[in-house]
Amino acid sequence: MEHVVAITGASGGVYGVRLVETLIERGHQVSLIISEPGKLVLAHELDYHFDDEQVVSVLAGKLGMPEVESLLKYYSNDDFMAPVCSGSHRTAGMVIIPCSMATLGAVANGLSSNLIERTADVMLKESRRLILVPRETPFSRIHLKNLLAAEEAGAKIVPPMPAFYHKPATVSDMVDFVVGKVLDQLEVEHELFKRWE
Ligand SMILES: Cc1cc2nc3c(=O)[nH]c(=O)nc-3n(C[C@H](O)[C@H](O)[C@H](O)COP(=O)(O)O)c2cc1C
Repeated sequence: MEHVVAITGASGGVYGVRLVETLIERGHQVSLIISEPGKLVLAHELDYHFDDEQVVSVLAGKLGMPEVESLLKYYSNDDFMAPVCSGSHRTAGMVIIPCSMATLGAVANGLSSNLIERTADVMLKESRRLILVPRETPFSRIHLKNLLAAEEAGAKIVPPMPAFYHKPATVSDMVDFVVGKVLDQLEVEHELFKRWE
């Protein structure tokens, strides 16, 4: 089944890239959308540089996974002709990871002014899975109200809050904890972190 992954311009594009990688490793199809600020942050934080036409090949190279070319489809954030724009196109759900406060506000208020916002709106209207991984600190009251509005509309809020009970030793361990929590919500099996027993 196809999963939609959107990367917006909040800090932590690494979470989105790792989610794409883990889904593809497990043979899932991924439809990816990256906002323009998302590309800027990926360039700054991970040294990933691409325009829309290069996303799939750059990710295939960076991740060292040739299967990215067959399982990953990329859509521009202004492509309202993309299949995911329509409720009639069935997907397993959508994850916005990381989710900026700008995109959170737009989703919570149904703006649908770009493909990420529109696809999130489709997920909510079709009662499909929409998982938001919001990144900001501290939260303002506006952010908190938008988080509540999105949750009340049907989104699941999974903040990238690391835990320490699994004794992370590296940044990758901390990233994997957050991505593992998202995979739990998608009901995708994984061993990204050691479960409490
Ligand atoms: C390096 C960098 C880090 C940023 N980190 C955050 C962040 O953690 N959270 C956030 O809400 N916005 C952050 N921003 C600001 C967003 O990129 C900006 O609000 C943008 O309009 C979001 O647009 P988008 O949601 O369409 O990607 C950051 C911007 C830059 C350049």
